[in-house]
Amino acid sequence: MTRPAPIVQLRVQRSDPPGRVDAFEVPADAAASLLDGLRWVRSHCDNSLGIRYACINANACKECMMRLDGKTVYACTARLEPGRSYEVGPLLNKPLLRDLITDISPGKERLFPDAGGEDD
Ligand code: FES
Repeated sequence: MTRPAPIVQLRVQRSDPPGRVDAFEVPADAAASLLDGLRWVRSHCDNSLGIRYACINANACKECMMRLDGKTVYACTARLEPGRSYEVGPLLNKPLLRDLITDISPGKERLFPDAGGEDD
C-alpha cells in the first residue's frame, strides 16, 4: 500500500467576486515556500491567480508581501509545513489590485512642494 503524497492546502482569497475563497491542494515538495506553492497553483490549477513577485526567494524586491494566516509575510520566505492548511490573502492596508496583488508603491511624492513664499 502506498502512502498519499503529502500536501499543503492553500485557501486563497480572490478578488472576483469579493469574498471568494479558492482552496488548492499543492504537493508539499512543490510548496517549500508560499511563493513556490502559489506559482505551482498558477502553473497547474489556475493561471488567472493574481500574484506579484520579481526576485523569487532572494527577499530583495519586497513585491510578494501578502497575509498568511493573518500575518504579513514575504511569500518567498514564508515556509510551509506538509499536511497543514493555510489562509492566504492580500495586504489589508493597501489598495487591492487583484487577488493577492496590492498597490505597495509609496504615496505620491510632492513634486512641487509649497514654497511658503510670496505668490507670483
Ligand atoms: S519575491 Fe522578491 S522579496 Fe519576495
